[in-house]
Amino acid sequence: MTKEYVVAKTSDIAPGTAKQVEVDGEPIAIFNVNGEFFAISDTCSHAQASLSEGAVEDFVVTCPWHGARFDIKTGKNLCMPAVTPVQKFDLKIEGDAITIVM
Ligand code: FES
Repeated sequence: MTKEYVVAKTSDIAPGTAKQVEVDGEPIAIFNVNGEFFAISDTCSHAQASLSEGAVEDFVVTCPWHGARFDIKTGKNLCMPAVTPVQKFDLKIEGDAITIVM
């Protein structure tokens, strides 16, 4: 059974930035890439930095600690030192509400 969590408003997250939200104590990073929204785990798979604090370029976020890059759409790790992906979450937009679907 899926659960839905309204976590933010679209106006909370400017294009090219991210926001950390929490669902059941789990930090999730919501990214706005040119008006499209994506959600991945906010915990880097290398050493647990917050990916929502990383630099965003197109659909790639660079971890602020050691420079691993992740695909914002899928959570896939793109370079060292990360060797595993981060979890991707489904979301939906209704009006200005961003909802995580788990
Ligand atoms: S914590 Fe992200 S690259 Fe090291």
